[in-house]
Amino acid sequence: MKRILLGVTGGIAAYKSAELVRLLRKQGAEVQVVMTKSAMQFISPLTFQALSGNPVHTELLDADVENAMGHISLARWADLLLIAPATANILAKLAHGLADDLLSTLYLAATCPVYVAPAMNQAMWNKMVTQENIQTLHRHGVKVIGPEQGDQACGETGYGRMSEPMAICAQLLANDKPDLLTISQYLKGHKILISAGPTCEPLDPVRYLTNRSSGKMGYALATAALKAGAEVTLISGPVALTAPAGVELIKVTTAEEMYQAVMSKVATQTIYIGAAAVADYSPVLSQPEKIKKQADQLTIVLQKNKDILAAVAADTSRPFTVGFAAETHDLETYARDKLTRKNLDMIAANWVGQEQGGFDSEENALQVFWANGDKSFPMTDKTQLAKQLMALIAERIQAV
Ligand code: PMT
Repeated sequence: MKRILLGVTGGIAAYKSAELVRLLRKQGAEVQVVMTKSAMQFISPLTFQALSGNPVHTELLDADVENAMGHISLARWADLLLIAPATANILAKLAHGLADDLLSTLYLAATCPVYVAPAMNQAMWNKMVTQENIQTLHRHGVKVIGPEQGDQACGETGYGRMSEPMAICAQLLANDKPDLLTISQYLKGHKILISAGPTCEPLDPVRYLTNRSSGKMGYALATAALKAGAEVTLISGPVALTAPAGVELIKVTTAEEMYQAVMSKVATQTIYIGAAAVADYSPVLSQPEKIKKQADQLTIVLQKNKDILAAVAADTSRPFTVGFAAETHDLETYARDKLTRKNLDMIAANWVGQEQGGFDSEENALQVFWANGDKSFPMTDKTQLAKQLMALIAERIQAV
């Protein structure tokens, strides 16, 4: 069982932390809650006591509480310190090493991984000093979850909303210690259809048109979805990979075969992720016999293939639809264009044709866009990146 110390600071999002405690316990974690004085103006310690099954800690020097744990022993107890919501004030205190209450003192005493889920007014979040504090915390190894964009309690719109409790749980699971929580079933009940790899469009019995997709990104997504508790169907072009055990694998070769396979499965799915590099064009004619070397020039006439992703998104009862965009230039412009034109819920864009990342490499970086937001995932191995993207998808599904 993992021991999570949840710090709650004074923001309207404090009510969401009650749900967070419930979710963390459901995942098998033991939770102790520390509240700041201003947090107690938003929500009662009794709520957290009832949900966590443990007394709530509020005082640095708490002689009155029976069995009170000193801040050092409480810090030693924790496998992880999560502060949610984290106000601008607590971020500033952590960044500068102030220790004038229990939570900020605990942070200094903690040797375990520390996560913060900021929540504040958008102008406060955008303020240079807050951004500098966040950078400082990044440098000090603190992991930052969110904040998200959207309508705020103060009536303004922008970045500053605390991430949803489910998304925070998912990000904890997606971190570099995937065993942090015992069960990682945040996509339980979902049926996810993923396309992966290249397609091969035959010119004759021995030659074909294809691309450099290895299938690694799509297969990593299938593994991440499976681990998150989803039922996964993987529709794969020709690759040299083994599908994760437990996934339904459908092998295809051409774009037309991939289209047919996706369309035959999509009606029952809750999420579709198009990670395959589908050929945009295929030869009008695939010659039945090997093309002989004769003339100095050979013209091959190509025709446009059906767009699988657009066809999925066009269905009225479509699943949550996530596309990829592989670009060599103007990444954001083309990705946003595909997001709108193909009517997608989300698009994950990656640079290709460069030395690192994208096609046929172990690592990748993604810029993810949706109608009113975006998120960047820096270069990391595709296994890790897939977990991060799945966690974001889980979060966005909740938001729509
Ligand atoms: O397989 P790897 O070696 O790990 O590499 C990963 C990757 C680079 C292939 C992957 O991250 C990626 O970017 N996949 C999408 C590649 C692509 O075809 O991008 P696109 O911008 O051409 O297409 C946009 C979207 O439309 C994609 O979701 C694609 O699956 C989809 N599409 C495209 C054409 C078509 N006929 N049908 C489609 O569904």
